[in-house]
Amino acid sequence: ADIDLGEYEHYMLKEIFEQPTTIENAMRGRLNYDEATAIFGGLNLSSQQLRQIDRIVLTACGTSWHAALVGEYLIEEFARIPVEVEYASELRYRNPPMSDQTMVFAITQSGETADTLAAMKECKRKGHTTMAICNVVGSTIAREADGGIYLHAGPEIGVASTKAFTSQVTVLTLLALYLGRMRHLSYSAGQNIIRKLKDIPKQVEKALECHEAVKTIAEKYASMNNFLYLGRLYNFPVALEGALKLKEISYIHAEGYPAAEMKHGPIALVDEQTPSVFIVPRCGIYPKVISNLQEVKARKGPVIAIACEGDDRVAELADDVIYVPDVDECLQPLVASIPLQLLAYHIAILRDCNVDRPRNLAKSVTVE
Ligand code: G6P
Repeated sequence: ADIDLGEYEHYMLKEIFEQPTTIENAMRGRLNYDEATAIFGGLNLSSQQLRQIDRIVLTACGTSWHAALVGEYLIEEFARIPVEVEYASELRYRNPPMSDQTMVFAITQSGETADTLAAMKECKRKGHTTMAICNVVGSTIAREADGGIYLHAGPEIGVASTKAFTSQVTVLTLLALYLGRMRHLSYSAGQNIIRKLKDIPKQVEKALECHEAVKTIAEKYASMNNFLYLGRLYNFPVALEGALKLKEISYIHAEGYPAAEMKHGPIALVDEQTPSVFIVPRCGIYPKVISNLQEVKARKGPVIAIACEGDDRVAELADDVIYVPDVDECLQPLVASIPLQLLAYHIAILRDCNVDRPRNLAKSVTVE
């Protein structure tokens, strides 16, 4: 690739630091504060058609699949439309019942993933409107879709996806807002979301200030061979994505779980050599996540917590804390992902791994 690395040593690090800008770009021209809704130029559907949707299927692979999970929570919460998230590799060979008014979104950075394309084609064959949420303009999936939303994140070179993930989550937030405003979401609730979204690039910029702290923490844990990533609600997909980043570029075994589900298995893995990364920003069930954290501590598991600025309670309980700005629950994935991307990056560097070109992986998987 001939894209300038600038001051950065690796594309992955450069792309992590681009996120305040790429998130901004994903929102550019798409927010209408006066109407308290989002605007999309490329959906090619009338509001009549959009109002008739009774179910949404989000299909994707890898990191894009994690973004889809956040999308499920957002769309169900804002628009009250039932959402199903499907691995494209499964959906292409499954035959789940879908109502005539089910709309399908393929979520893909590259627009070239073979399984995602095949799943989309299968849904099209059965008459469903299929949309693409895609980064690469003019890619196969973008062309095959009936319409779509581009991320405008610019080229992503690092094999491990970072900025595409946060852009996907941003676009899904706008989509949830848009569909919500055609249904149940009030004017003031819509404006409230827009106001908070507009603040997000600045908050992500602030989240990036954890860089040095994360580096120090990485040194402490880089020699360990098993990690758990735990979070709840909007931060459950963030836990999955954090674990995937570590696996992909540092070749360390990591599992992401909903924090409360841990007692049904993964807690058996906890020991002094198995750190747990807890994503525990302030939220409605904060005390519940804290008690999950204490269960791990009681079993001598080291805990790294991702918490909101000013959370002293967590600092007393966890071995290490990385602070991120306090944002609305539904927007937390956008800030909480930042330290996890950086943690994976630094651990991989310390283990001498090729962060931009990890073994056995491809930027886009165009074969089955
Ligand atoms: C590959 C990449 C991942 C990516 C996945 C889906 O496995 O290594 O980073 O998340 O494909 O790619 P897509 O381009 O469809 O988002």
